[in-house]
This record gives sequence, C-alpha cells and structure tokens, in this order.
Amino acid sequence: MTLRRLTIRSLAALAASLSISIPLVGHAEEGEITGDPEAARSKISMCIGCHGIKGYKANFPSVYHVPMIAGQNAEYLVAALKEYASGARTFPTMRAIADSLSEQDMADLAAYYSNLK
Ligand code: HEC
Repeated sequence: MTLRRLTIRSLAALAASLSISIPLVGHAEEGEITGDPEAARSKISMCIGCHGIKGYKANFPSVYHVPMIAGQNAEYLVAALKEYASGARTFPTMRAIADSLSEQDMADLAAYYSNLK
C-alpha cells in the first residue's frame, strides 16, 4: 500500500535535494536528458548576478550587454551553453561557467529560463 509510495517519494525528494532528476516511471527514453525547472532553482545562483534577479533584467546593461535569457527557447539555450563549453563561443566568463555545467545542469537551466515570462 503506502509503503511503496513512500519509498518512491523519498527517492524523489533525495534526487531533488541532490539536484539530479530520476525519471520515476521510465517515460523518458534511455539516454534522453529532460530538463527539470525545479532542479534548476539551486543552480541559478550562478547566473542571476549577470542575467538578472529572477531573469527579468540584466543588472549591468551599461557595463556590457548581457543577453536576456528568460523566455528563450530551451533548445536554443542548451545549444548556446554547449557552444560556450566547447569553445565555439568564446565569451570568457560564460565559457568558464558553461564548462562547469553537466548536460543535466544545462537542460535544467534551459527548462527554468525558458519557462520564465
Ligand atoms: C559574469 C557574468 C555572467 C554570468 C555569471 C552568467 N552569464 Fe550568461 N552571459 C553573460 C554574457 C556577457 C553573455 C553574452 C556573451 C557573448 O557575447 O557571447 C552571456 C550569454 C549567455 C547565453 C547566450 C544567450 C544568447 O542569447 O545567445 C546563455 C544561454 C547564458 N549566458 C546562460 C547563462 C547561464 C545559464 C548562467 C548560469 C549558469 C550564466 N549565463 C551566467 C554573462 C554571464
């Protein structure tokens, strides 16, 4: 009865606290990475300093142009982050940041920012 439910719930809670996402019922195809906007909440602290609190506005538009990433297409965001990580895009701070992100982090962040209005 509820024991099984509890176990699945606590696994999900553990996964959430570790910022990883485990597809619970295996509806995700094998190897597919699904972005989880909730999991991104612990990761956006790396981004909001430049891309704006809650992603609404850049903090330093007069110092350099920081692109608006809130509301952008998730696939576009992941592609951009991969390009920074690979060096195809060369902005130094973004490169260092993207390089430190896993593919899951990128998917989570993209899911989060693409859902911001
Ligand atoms: C030190 C400031 C800084 C931080 C921190 C930062 N960014 Fe950026 N980001 C920038 C700047 C500046 C650009 C534009 C660089 C360029 O011209 O290529 C940019 C570009 C991007 C782009 C490409 C946008 C586009 O329209 O092509 C994405 C996506 C992005 N950042 C996501 C993130 C995410 C996600 C984080 C947190 C993990 C983050 N950034 C943290 C400054 C920052």
